[in-house]
Amino acid sequence: MTLITTIHSYAGGVGKSATARDLSAALSLLGQRVLLIDADHQADLSVSLGVDIDEQFENADDSFAWTIGPAVLGTGSLPPPQPTFGFDLIPSSITLYNLEKELKADVSMVVGLRYALDEVRAGGQYDFVLIDTNPTLGDMATLALLAADRVLLPIPPNRKGLRAGTFIRSRVEKGHYQRLNPGLQVLPPIITQAPNTVLARRYMAEIEQQFGGTLGIIKHRPGLYPAAMERGVPVSQLDQGEGRAEVLGVAERFLQAVGGARGA
Ligand SMILES: Nc1ncnc2c1ncn2[C@@H]1O[C@H](COP(=O)(O)OP(=O)(O)O)[C@@H](O)[C@H]1O
Ligand SMILES: [Mg+2]
Repeated sequence: MTLITTIHSYAGGVGKSATARDLSAALSLLGQRVLLIDADHQADLSVSLGVDIDEQFENADDSFAWTIGPAVLGTGSLPPPQPTFGFDLIPSSITLYNLEKELKADVSMVVGLRYALDEVRAGGQYDFVLIDTNPTLGDMATLALLAADRVLLPIPPNRKGLRAGTFIRSRVEKGHYQRLNPGLQVLPPIITQAPNTVLARRYMAEIEQQFGGTLGIIKHRPGLYPAAMERGVPVSQLDQGEGRAEVLGVAERFLQAVGGARGA
């Protein structure tokens, strides 16, 4: 069975794309078959995996064809994913920005990704689908949350991070998405970009307490993470030491939280 997880926060810069990239790479190192979907028109995730389709194609229609766009609009199916670092990627492009307008014009399209992923589930070739979102509470986030079984919140240990994380959890628990997607559940969060300060430790304790646990802590590593982004590779590929152990630990706890490995 395929489990679909959307990585979400309305806050920008909290580590959504880094989590999506590194969790996908770590799960595949643990023997899981992963499809990663970039649903953020900024395409940071795709670029941070070395895939820049806006650079590859001059024509906007050509770029759009390699994204989830046509499947969401119902004008095509999902594109063939691109293999990268042991998992498959459906990249994003700036042209995905046009979807926002389309979703506004026709509200029924907000279930477009869910329907497209029903076919992926039926195909059975993936254990996990991970979806990266843009920092919004708008239609693009709803599109990704209606398609998901689980939502994973990256929360940096500071006020902005905690506020965003608890707000989204309460929105899900109040039934905001569950009316259309009753199976949606919130996973324990990942603490991201954690500096070694007294204040951060206080927030970490608060996050642990409010969520009843986490999937682990990713330390603030200003040398490693921007370099991974620049080089277009996952952290597990660039660093064979602590950074790699950290993301693998998060992936192991993710597997425990969702009831174990699927395709290992
Ligand atoms: N653990 C970390 N340590 C240091 N920098 C990080 C860490 N995680 C992410 N970053 C950097 O912070 C920035 C924002 O991260 P990103 O994953 O793009 O956030 P989001 O997708 O939520 O906007 C990026 O430049 C990224 O390289
Ligand atoms: Mg991002």
